[in-house]
Amino acid sequence: MERTCRNTELSLADVGKKVTLVGWVSKKRNLGSIIFVDLRDRSGIMQIMIKEADKAPDIRNEYVLQVEGTVSRREVANPKMKTGEIEVIADKINVVNTAKTTPLIIADETDALEEVRLKYRYLDLRRPCMQRFFDIRDEIKITTHKYLHEHQFIEVETPMLAASSPEGAKEYLVPSRLHHGSFYALPQSPQMFKQLLMVAGFERYYQIARCFRDEDLRADRQPDFTQIDIETSFLDQNQFLTIMEGLIHEIFMNTIGYDVKLPLRQMTYKEAMERYGTDKPDTRFGIELHNLKSLFADTTFETYKTADAIRGICVPNVADTTSRKVVDNLTVEAKKFGLGGLAVLKMENEELTGGFVKFLTEGEKAALIKEFAMKNNDIIIISAGPDNRVSPLLGAIRLQYGKQLGLIKPNTYDLLWVIDFPMFEREIETGEIVATHHPFTRPRDEDLPYLDTDPTKALSYAYDIVINGYEAGGGTLRIYDQNIQKKIFNILGLSDEEVQTKFGYFVNALQYGTPPHAGMAFGLDRLAMILGGTENIRDVIAFPKNLAGVCPMSGAPTPVTDKQLEDLGIIIKKD
Ligand code: AMO
Repeated sequence: MERTCRNTELSLADVGKKVTLVGWVSKKRNLGSIIFVDLRDRSGIMQIMIKEADKAPDIRNEYVLQVEGTVSRREVANPKMKTGEIEVIADKINVVNTAKTTPLIIADETDALEEVRLKYRYLDLRRPCMQRFFDIRDEIKITTHKYLHEHQFIEVETPMLAASSPEGAKEYLVPSRLHHGSFYALPQSPQMFKQLLMVAGFERYYQIARCFRDEDLRADRQPDFTQIDIETSFLDQNQFLTIMEGLIHEIFMNTIGYDVKLPLRQMTYKEAMERYGTDKPDTRFGIELHNLKSLFADTTFETYKTADAIRGICVPNVADTTSRKVVDNLTVEAKKFGLGGLAVLKMENEELTGGFVKFLTEGEKAALIKEFAMKNNDIIIISAGPDNRVSPLLGAIRLQYGKQLGLIKPNTYDLLWVIDFPMFEREIETGEIVATHHPFTRPRDEDLPYLDTDPTKALSYAYDIVINGYEAGGGTLRIYDQNIQKKIFNILGLSDEEVQTKFGYFVNALQYGTPPHAGMAFGLDRLAMILGGTENIRDVIAFPKNLAGVCPMSGAPTPVTDKQLEDLGIIIKKD
């Protein structure tokens, strides 16, 4: 189809030029004898002036047009538009295709519900603000390919149809037609394959890898998502992180022109939990957690006497807006974290007030005011109980206040490494020991003895990159000693036989000259969210699932025919 250029390639310098443009009708204004059309192509909008309105074809929103005309200077420039100084006076309009009235307005501002946007995603994606997200996403990928290629990385694809693994609670399974009763698993990540590529001698691998996880969805989680997956041999932790920081620097520079200051700072997991109540702290604002255990050393309040942890935060200048309802909501939040409640104290007229005051001695009151340097109209929120509930609760409340009080400046970026994660954690509900990162993570050398005594005390060579409170990526140094690897599997409750059947090929590979290796994976979608400035991961994925794991456009997942089931040897249990 003939087209001389894209809309935004034209400027005042082209006035007088004959051009042929193509695009969609974004807006039409009929002024009687003249019609103005905003013609939208991928690059942006050009105003078309049709002088003989009575001779113009029927033109409606979202029709596809080919316009031949002459570039001219506009009488009144529109400084808000890239092409606002010019317009194209049409000589000939060719209606290439018509369009039904669209169920949503194709413009940055739309009041359409997200469900409608997802159902008509191809129209939603026509909106310029959506296309910008995909430009950013594309730039992240191009930068990654270039940077990693320049640093001797090689891209290798690994299978989508892989073997199920024992800790595969989150796996999507694919039935085998040739082997009834057997299943492939879609990879949660290419973890074992990339480690095998290190055994294979590739030294530096990467892959823009599709991953699949059947987990509860959130604003920053999708069942199928994309990682920038990386593995390297012969590097220690800081050598590896330096290369990764270089990549992040390039990505920020090439997408949004932001100069990330390197090296990034490193914070231990312990410090992150103690100060921010989370392993992905947003350190752009204060309201840090304080440890109040020693302040309450002599308390007579029964719950506090026996509590594993007592921590608090001070929120400035909100006492007057902290109504009964606000306190009730905070209590509901505490219950969600499995805690009975929390204490809210206000500073009013130089004095602490609130229901909890009656349990405090004069000394404790004074100590609290001093601890938090409280001013009139501040509040403190105190929580007591198991530390793995208290800290996350206060961390979540801190974040809510940070957002609500506008303490986070827009367009600011906060990047850090969180390091030294525990090797294992206990599941809150079951008390079962699980790997904090994954079972291939190397324990710190000095913590190896804990594997035989108290594994939950062992820390690991693990690191997450945290950007603006998001876990944007994470990785570890890997175990390359088969005995340690077996020990870890055993701690996770896998018998030697189970290890052999499920992981045999992997453990065996470790016996053939495995180099020390390390890697990580960045969440590509999360990076695109952060750089695109959206809190909704669905904005940066072309055809995402909704929070129920359903694609409102295609209807996936859908039932299949009896014939398909029969071929696969599957009988569906009727509820
Ligand atoms: P991990 O499980 O931490 O590590 O994942 C790495 C990064 O992937 C992103 N991510 C997700 N993004 C969107 N939706 C999801 N459901 C989702 N789950 C994870 C996050 C996360 O930081 N194999 C290891 C990496 C390694 O050790 O090399 C792994 O997958 O940004």
